[in-house]
Amino acid sequence: MLKDKQISNEKTLKQYYIKTFGCQMNVYDSHRIAAILETLGFSPAISVKNADLVIFNTCHIREKAAEKVFSDLGRLNLIKEERAQEGQDTIIGVVGCVVQAEDEQIAKRAPFVDFALGPLTYHRLPQVLAQISKKRGIPLIDTEFPAESKFDFLPENTSMGGCSFLAIQEGCNNFCTYCVVPYTRGIETSRPVEDIIKEAKKLVAEGSVEINLLGQNVNSYHGEDKNGKERNLAYLLRRLNEIEGLERLRYTTSYPADVDDDLIACHRDLKKLMPYLHLPVQSGSDKILKAMNRRHTRGQYLEVVEKLKEANPELGFSSDFIVGFPGETDEDFEQTLDLVRQVSFIQAFSFKYSRRAGTPAALMPNQVEEKIKKERLIILQDLLFSYQLKFNKESVGKIMPVLFDIKGRHKGELIGRTPWMQNVHAELGKEYCNKIVNIKMIDATVNSLSGVKEGK
Ligand code: SAH
Ligand code: SF4
Ligand code: F3S
Repeated sequence: MLKDKQISNEKTLKQYYIKTFGCQMNVYDSHRIAAILETLGFSPAISVKNADLVIFNTCHIREKAAEKVFSDLGRLNLIKEERAQEGQDTIIGVVGCVVQAEDEQIAKRAPFVDFALGPLTYHRLPQVLAQISKKRGIPLIDTEFPAESKFDFLPENTSMGGCSFLAIQEGCNNFCTYCVVPYTRGIETSRPVEDIIKEAKKLVAEGSVEINLLGQNVNSYHGEDKNGKERNLAYLLRRLNEIEGLERLRYTTSYPADVDDDLIACHRDLKKLMPYLHLPVQSGSDKILKAMNRRHTRGQYLEVVEKLKEANPELGFSSDFIVGFPGETDEDFEQTLDLVRQVSFIQAFSFKYSRRAGTPAALMPNQVEEKIKKERLIILQDLLFSYQLKFNKESVGKIMPVLFDIKGRHKGELIGRTPWMQNVHAELGKEYCNKIVNIKMIDATVNSLSGVKEGK
């Protein structure tokens, strides 16, 4: 009904463009939003300028991320005005975490926005678009935390290529004192086991050989099975491991205190579970971890890492770090560097602490000066890069299975990933795209490897 109505009402609306900011969950959400739009008769535009509908899927995690949305929106409004001069209408929508946190700011700072939907209400896009076609000029904003699950209203998920994301859990109850996510994504919810298995089988049937299970706190997964019994992530991984044609499983992002023995056993038992784990630690200082309201100490983190390495000695770790959290002294920072030396992370993301209004840490005394934050970030990143480079260099000469799924910048080049999430560039025909190929590594930099196909 809606579909027909939409198309007949809006003959000028045809092409969409989605710009995605933020984490993998936003990439996944954008993929699903694109599917909604395609059921409504839209097709992807090659550039913003050609789009009749532009959607920004936004991130609120750090101040810079949120501010970028507003400056990009300003630029988008200029394009909207240019198009208007040519007689073309442009609908502008904002979705994602900035909407949830700053709905009033959007109405004030970007009144030309036509609609804004939070991360849990984007399934209402068809109704919203139908309403917009009747009424313009005031942003239509929906930031409810709805009773219904959006997953029950979305068109079925489709493969993203060789490697697909599958959201199994959303929201977070941890309330780390610096973080906006519990406010933007709401409390933790888990999707039912059978819905996930069905979605995974469909993705594999459509050509995905790798599935990356997503959740803000993915290892606190506690979805119901068909008998209404709550199951954990380990149960889900074991079920997914049985799907024929699925070669690789990953999950992200994990919370260290929620890594249980069942999950550790999966890293020992499940061959499809890749030997790479993103396990954010944030800081190596117990004092800072406590102030951050993390439910793990430095010692407990190292213990979990040890247990996981025992279960699978090939496992490589990546992590997230925040430097310059309120009250962080040189000694606290030194403990973070020391933890990095102990774990030898093979990849990592590190950030300067960003003060987020509404979070407890924003009001803490002893905020660290910007200059010190900058200095600490450089020192930490230098150290992290040295381990990353060492790991990549050690890969040279080895033969590794690489899943290729992106075309490189040069003609005839494909980009893929090793089991350890290292990027690999190789000269390969496009028939190898979305396939796992054995590659002999010939060179390495901090960010990637290059290699050649092994055998025929
Ligand atoms: N769900 C993920 C976190 C998403 S945010 C998890 O729990 O790991 C990704 C990373 O951004 C966090 O791990 C943290 O390192 C960083 N981050 C979050 N809030 C931040 C802030 N206020 N300032 C700087 N970095 C922050
Ligand atoms: Fe944010 Fe902490 Fe939850 Fe991660 S665990 S999303 S950092 S509150
Ligand atoms: Fe950003 Fe929201 Fe993800 S704040 S990091 S897009 S959960």
